[in-house]
Amino acid sequence: MSRYPAIRLRRTRVAPWSRRLHAETVLTPADLIWPLFITAGGEEEPIASLPGVSRWPVSGIVARAKEAAALGIPCVALFPNTPADKRSDEGEEALNPDNLMCQAIRALKDAVPEIGVLTDVALDPYTSHGHDGLVDAAGYVRNDATADVLVQQALNQAAAGADIIAPSDMMDGRIGLIREALEEEGHVNVQIMAYAAKYASGFYGPFRDAVGSRGRLKGDKKTYQMDPANAEEALREVALDLDEGADSVMVKPGLPYLDIIARVKAAFEVPVFAYQVSGEYAMIEAAVAAGAAERDALVLETLLAFKRAGCSGVLSYHAPHAARLMGA
Ligand code: PBG
Repeated sequence: MSRYPAIRLRRTRVAPWSRRLHAETVLTPADLIWPLFITAGGEEEPIASLPGVSRWPVSGIVARAKEAAALGIPCVALFPNTPADKRSDEGEEALNPDNLMCQAIRALKDAVPEIGVLTDVALDPYTSHGHDGLVDAAGYVRNDATADVLVQQALNQAAAGADIIAPSDMMDGRIGLIREALEEEGHVNVQIMAYAAKYASGFYGPFRDAVGSRGRLKGDKKTYQMDPANAEEALREVALDLDEGADSVMVKPGLPYLDIIARVKAAFEVPVFAYQVSGEYAMIEAAVAAGAAERDALVLETLLAFKRAGCSGVLSYHAPHAARLMGA
């Protein structure tokens, strides 16, 4: 009897109440992490390639976090735009306990303690060459030496009050080293969200404008970030990061890699997050500006797609807009 007309899949779609009742996936503000850019300047700085997104002074970061909390967004992610005179070949400013990142973490923990603070571990906002690590004479990003610095960077952020350390650098072995150091220093409840499957992507351009690394970057990041051709390798990356102590894993970029998200979730049954990255945000905004699509529909549909694929949550520049659309 499993046949038309007995079976009509349109029956359950007939009215909004029924569609709501049968929805397999639900999106709520609690699924969102809002990435924020910090400036050392005193004013809001709009980012041309990310229309609608600005860098904020620490006081503005606090205001955004209060906004997020009021909208039911549980967590913000911080990225600094380090002043040019504080960038260097080895990115030492990353270890300064009073750098922009640490100032913002402390201000948030003080003023908005109910919100989670996720911090980026990688050297690109601090290096004069825009790479995520230490570069040798041939231009190669050195793995082990970089990992040692990332451990110090993570400890610096944890000491300032970071709740989730999120290494975005793709060095081998860094999750285990960071976990070990956090345990030794007593930061037993500081989480690690590993950028486990991070691809060498063309979708990061506006982010590099936002943190000021775009014009500086020499070459590309293909010797450390993953080849977009690979999926099995993503599963190995995730397996290693989990084995080394990651509490959750991230896939990045987002929409072009939904297959990776679904495979990771099926294989490991752990919390998986996606980063709907700057180029994806810019693409949606460009489509809206061109009159090709409705922003609200694209925002909700793309975020729901991440949930359907298996994500526990999504980092998105559209987070506050999405939360408002959800009626927060
Ligand atoms: C670098 C980093 C990047 C992003 C987050 N951390 C860019 C890169 O790898 O060059 C991209 C995020 C986005 O595009 O929104 N550590």
